[in-house]
Amino acid sequence: MIDPQYRKDDGHQEIISLEGNKIKGIKSISQIDPKHFWSNCAKNLTWFKEWEQVLDWNPPFARWFLGGKLNAAYNCLDRHLISEKKNHAAIIWEGEDGQSVTITYNQLFYRVNKLANALKRLGIKKGDRITIYLPMIPELVISMLACARIGAIHSVIFSGFSSQSIIDRVNDAESRIIITADGGYRRGKIVQLKKIVDEAVKQTSTVEKVIVVKRTHEDIDINEKDIWFEDLVNKESNYCVSEWMESNDPLFILYTSGTTGKPKGVVHGSGGYLTHLFNSAKWVFNFVPTDVFFCTADIGWVTGHSYVVYAPLMHGVTEIIYEGAPDYPDQGQYWNIIEKHGATILYTTPTALRSYMRYGNDIPNSYDLSSLRLLGTVGEPINPEVWMWYFNTIGKNNCPIIDTWWQTETGGIMISMCTGIENIQMKPGSGTFSLPGIELEIVDDHGKKVEANKKGYLTVKEPWPGMLLSLWNNKERYEKTYWEKTRNSYFAGDFAYVDNDGYYWILGRADDILKVAGHRLGTIELESAFISHPSVAEAAVTSKKDEIKGETIIAFLVLRKGAELSSQLDIEVNEHIKNTVGPIASAEKIYFVNKLPKTRSGKIMRRLLRSIVNNETIGDITTLEDEASIEEITHELQEINKHL
Ligand code: PRX
Repeated sequence: MIDPQYRKDDGHQEIISLEGNKIKGIKSISQIDPKHFWSNCAKNLTWFKEWEQVLDWNPPFARWFLGGKLNAAYNCLDRHLISEKKNHAAIIWEGEDGQSVTITYNQLFYRVNKLANALKRLGIKKGDRITIYLPMIPELVISMLACARIGAIHSVIFSGFSSQSIIDRVNDAESRIIITADGGYRRGKIVQLKKIVDEAVKQTSTVEKVIVVKRTHEDIDINEKDIWFEDLVNKESNYCVSEWMESNDPLFILYTSGTTGKPKGVVHGSGGYLTHLFNSAKWVFNFVPTDVFFCTADIGWVTGHSYVVYAPLMHGVTEIIYEGAPDYPDQGQYWNIIEKHGATILYTTPTALRSYMRYGNDIPNSYDLSSLRLLGTVGEPINPEVWMWYFNTIGKNNCPIIDTWWQTETGGIMISMCTGIENIQMKPGSGTFSLPGIELEIVDDHGKKVEANKKGYLTVKEPWPGMLLSLWNNKERYEKTYWEKTRNSYFAGDFAYVDNDGYYWILGRADDILKVAGHRLGTIELESAFISHPSVAEAAVTSKKDEIKGETIIAFLVLRKGAELSSQLDIEVNEHIKNTVGPIASAEKIYFVNKLPKTRSGKIMRRLLRSIVNNETIGDITTLEDEASIEEITHELQEINKHL
């Protein structure tokens, strides 16, 4: 039992101490000689050839373990075949319908090899791009590892995205193949994934084949380019030699929202990325052979790439992959899965926890959750209340909580308590400290370090192994987005502060990125989608705080001349957004207005809109005198207020 020691600092901080066996002094070792430190960390992977240089830092481009050769799939699979892990469960897959399938490391190895051979037979070579648009089924992991095995670069698209999102991503990556399924289950309903892909393929010119997994077994259109997954792999042999990848050859592209309309293709390699993942998982989760790890993230997002696919499989742990939604078939689904499979670690989102908390304690209390030893959160700030609920009701005061801060771009966890390293005191709502080898700084607009308790921009001072290599086909955007604002440090785009004890507190995004139910969406991306509706002339998107989802989307729209305002239009426009971006982009509220508040240079003043919808003080608008006509803006705000 962990003994909570409460200390009220500023009304909401509480401190909880943790006991255990830890590696001492690792942080200072990492600071004394970072290259030596990271090269020792890299030795936890299996390399075909050792690197010649630990780091080539040519700001803002970092290349780790130069000249080293390795393979990500080999590190996840082959190396376990010579140990007792060979016949251990790698994946326990839980279908939405309650069906469970266990796949051992050996079985996973065979299935990956067969697909790898099939891809080669289709002419796929090292460096080619393959788009994967699959629901949370084992074939998603198999497809990623098959690509990695032959050196093809995977680009996974979250299966909740629309055909337009597929078109943009496939065209940018110039993918030769798409791997999809006939359909996917979502809360008992079938999502027609193949149909969405068919729409997209019409508007792409590089796709040669569409490989289709049978999941829902419904009738689908079969086109010239289509091949059934099973037919393709059945005739292949069980072994495919692993491609020797240079440490910095791209392993995958993962598209994520930025501050422009076009999603960014974040590129990660193998050597640095896998070193970061292996070691962060070791420090943060402190995996032991008996662990049953349950990370609830969809593989379509970075948490799924890093801590569903690569990190746990490299460690050879058993993990649970769940196909469906947290509240389906009922409001106790995660607790049911934990009880059924004896999960020892739960790694989930604050949004899921907020929903479960709302359903009441009777539901989790009716399950046996005693197998749990560690609880984690990721993706958005967790409010101390929810943290305490997680600690008391789910962890029964026995499980430490790790609140892990990181990003698609950082590859792996950057801030978290490290249960494998030292005993520290937890503060609900704070991620605690940076991981060993990760040097953070909170700075002001001029890149100058701010004092304790002062809000500033979160930056990373030194390169770290999981750092993105670049943005696909767009070095300039990479430099501009992450390195221009805070000069020589990586600009994370989050506001944060450090308290008197050195704990980090993340305060949310400092840019035009929203986090809706933990999903990352760009305001400009959403605005472009609104404007593509024939009745909409202009759009401004902001967010409103939400008890469950953290934030929800609020849109202000100006109609085109001649477009008629009607109750139907609201529904139609929202449908349009769901079809253009995906169901996760549905707006909570749409306001039709005559004009949007803008600066003289035409920039929409989203900050003001955000303050208004959240009932916050608008702040000093006189500072905007140079940029806009205050009178006009005030008038616009009054207009908008009338609608609220
Ligand atoms: O704003 C931060 C928030 O999520 C952003 C990164 O989003 P994405 O690339 O989709 O990756 C999410 C999963 C790693 C960050 O810039 N964020 C992530 N983790 C936390 C968080 N905000 C507060 N607390 C966290 N633990």
